[in-house]
Amino acid sequence: MNLSKKILSWYDNNKRTLPWRISKNSKKNQYYRILSEFMLQQTQVKTVIPYFNNFVKKIPNLKALSKSSETKILKLWEGLGYYSRAKNLHKTSKILIKKYKGQIPDDFIKLKELPGIGDYTANILLALIYNQPRIALDGNVKRVLSRIFNIDPAKALNLFKTKRNSDLAEALMEFGALICKPQEPICEECKIKNVCSYYTQGIKIKSKSNIKFHLKSYDIFCYLKKNTRQIALTKNNNLGFLKKFNLPKVKETSKKIKNWKFLCNYKNSISNKKLNINLYYKFSSKIPSKYNWYYLNENSEFIPSFTKKIFKQVSNLY
Ligand code: ADE
Repeated sequence: MNLSKKILSWYDNNKRTLPWRISKNSKKNQYYRILSEFMLQQTQVKTVIPYFNNFVKKIPNLKALSKSSETKILKLWEGLGYYSRAKNLHKTSKILIKKYKGQIPDDFIKLKELPGIGDYTANILLALIYNQPRIALDGNVKRVLSRIFNIDPAKALNLFKTKRNSDLAEALMEFGALICKPQEPICEECKIKNVCSYYTQGIKIKSKSNIKFHLKSYDIFCYLKKNTRQIALTKNNNLGFLKKFNLPKVKETSKKIKNWKFLCNYKNSISNKKLNINLYYKFSSKIPSKYNWYYLNENSEFIPSFTKKIFKQVSNLY
């Protein structure tokens, strides 16, 4: 049995039921695939599942997506992070409806012109939707291929031959997630261990996908209005990754704090950053210019989970 057949047979027996894995001939397939691949950029399968299910319940097809407001889309994306993905997906849906009659193009160059689609997403969509012989090299797949062959993963692609290109692309990802894991691969359960360099020669390939976590400390200062449960927020903060959002005053921890009351300390993980947050507050009805008052139970506006955590802590004071 050749390698593709072995991996595909493992996949057929072991693949997870994921909500975007639906019949390839169904109308929904293209929409489910583009939506899930945008959500899965930088984000784990188990995190994406509930967001995906809720999203397709509220916005069931590409046309509906193209007609939705950005506010609605961001609200559904709230908590998933990397919000430019949502904005790009929205722009892409409009172009697909206008220029491509609602179809995802079957051409690499055309796909890459769409907002939010780079090499990886273009390759995976062409493989998944059009069964093109492409394997998208994400961290998982690179690791699997370099372990098996002990050569540059890009060169390893020619070693797979199959008519089931779509399934193979997904099988390699699934294999990397379930068997050929970064830290502790389950070699004993692996159907191809006998041809694998890592197993037979004990060659250790270090995973490059393990991004180190950096713990950085920030002080956050909240102006609060006593009776109305309001907090003052501004866009003038120092947090690059949340620059576009309204936040209380944020400063990297440097020196002793005067004139503010300490509320609590907590850790907040955002993508590959781990933040150590010290929260301070002050009841005051006067605020510096460029700040505006917001209600703590505000729910109409899109609010990143970073800000929601602050709201929750501050709510305890009332
Ligand atoms: N990561 C990115 N795309 C994926 C998919 N279709 N299935 C599982 N993991 C993925």
